[in-house]
Amino acid sequence: MGTPVNIIVGSHVWVEDPEIAWIDGEVTEINGSNATIITSNGRTVVAEISSIYPKDTEAPPAGVDDMTKLAYLHEPGVLHNLAIRFSLNEIYTYTGNILIAVNPFRRLPHLYDIHMMQQYKGAAFGELSPHLFAVADTCYRAMINENGSQSILVSGESGAGKTETTKMLMRYLAFMGGRSGTEGRTVEQQVLESNPVLEAFGNAKTVKNNNSSRFGKFVEIQFDKNGKISGAAIRTYLLERSRVCQVSDPERNYHCFYMLCSAPPEDVKKYKLGDPKQFHYLNQSNCYQVSNVDDAKEYLETRNAMDIVGINQEEQDAIFRVVAAILHLGNIEFVKGNEVDSSKLKNEKSVFHLRTAAELCDEKALEDSLCKRVIVTPDGNITKPLDPDAASLSRDALAKTVYSRLFDWIVDKINSSIGQDSNAVSIIGVLDIYGFESFKINR
Ligand SMILES: Nc1ncnc2c1ncn2[C@@H]1O[C@H](COP(=O)(O)OP(=O)(O)OP(=O)(O)O)[C@@H](O)[C@H]1O
Ligand SMILES: [Mg+2]
Repeated sequence: MGTPVNIIVGSHVWVEDPEIAWIDGEVTEINGSNATIITSNGRTVVAEISSIYPKDTEAPPAGVDDMTKLAYLHEPGVLHNLAIRFSLNEIYTYTGNILIAVNPFRRLPHLYDIHMMQQYKGAAFGELSPHLFAVADTCYRAMINENGSQSILVSGESGAGKTETTKMLMRYLAFMGGRSGTEGRTVEQQVLESNPVLEAFGNAKTVKNNNSSRFGKFVEIQFDKNGKISGAAIRTYLLERSRVCQVSDPERNYHCFYMLCSAPPEDVKKYKLGDPKQFHYLNQSNCYQVSNVDDAKEYLETRNAMDIVGINQEEQDAIFRVVAAILHLGNIEFVKGNEVDSSKLKNEKSVFHLRTAAELCDEKALEDSLCKRVIVTPDGNITKPLDPDAASLSRDALAKTVYSRLFDWIVDKINSSIGQDSNAVSIIGVLDIYGFESFKINR
């Protein structure tokens, strides 16, 4: 915080505003602990002196690129500085060695092209305009010069731009540490292509973000003694499992379900799919499409990215078979069975979905596992029937478990195909951490 200042008549201050957060104004009267302020939009406001902040009248009109240069480092000062810079198309600002990014919500390709990377290569931190390439470059050089591992933490609320930033950081590290001219797929290419694969299975449209990561991700890039990328490992955690069987307007389930429903006709037929509206796990929400996203195209791109990260055709087919089986599983409905508190399949349609889901395993075993519960006792196993509600819950629990195991399997597969370098000299880790939403009730 800046130096404490006395607020007197004539002081320029920031006062809270219900619409624009903070507004500037001039104090015209002080009465005990209250100050009267005429704001710059001509209103008269009375506020507690303890809730208003001094305004730096000598601050540069275009803002400062490092907020440690601000006379007052308080909330209105910081927000005002970020806002002026944003209005001048400067989305990045430093606070010491922390980079703050304000999401532009539009593509700014010139900011991330190869010329920009070349400019930041080797430039001292702070010499050029604030940029994520400067952070990545400093990190890379610190690793080379000090032979020590480094980490970059990317945080912010949902939709702030963490995942986009993480991808760009990885691109810069690939630019610095990549091996050009190497035959076949390079580690960096595989690391970059792992993004669309993970996003297909771990991202979904939410209220806040059309491509929200529903898992945390730590990417560890390994370097050899020459500073070249020699291996990588991706760690993911806490995939949001409940989304698999529960979605509400205006959100969607994981992208892969919609992609598969929009796959080429032969694939849709093979997996016995069709309109997403017919699947219980998708039709609890009325949202099926994401603006500017073509699920059919994404399906082919995901398949292509899978090829690059080393998931072969057979494995891809197995993955999508599981995705389809989960949709069929969700459509199995139950009604009361003949015994008390028991259940059975509702109709022929449910039998069809059970059969299709069961093409993965044993049909009878699947039906029993849904409609019955096995209790293990010292005298042996007892099988107890489940009522229709309990059977639906066991169906959903199975869907969630299968989906999260599928996700983990894909991550493992990517890791083993990229390969780890056990002789790596140092690593750079990039953490894209999710889950900063604050709810009134947090479950
Ligand atoms: N630097 C950028 N340039 C252009 N667009 C951006 C940039 N950063 C973010 N966006 C836009 O904002 C959207 C949301 O960003 P992103 O998915 O990275 O958010 P996130 O912080 O990872 O959110 P979540 O926690 O929900 O995963 C992106 O899909 C993209 O449209
Ligand atoms: Mg994200």
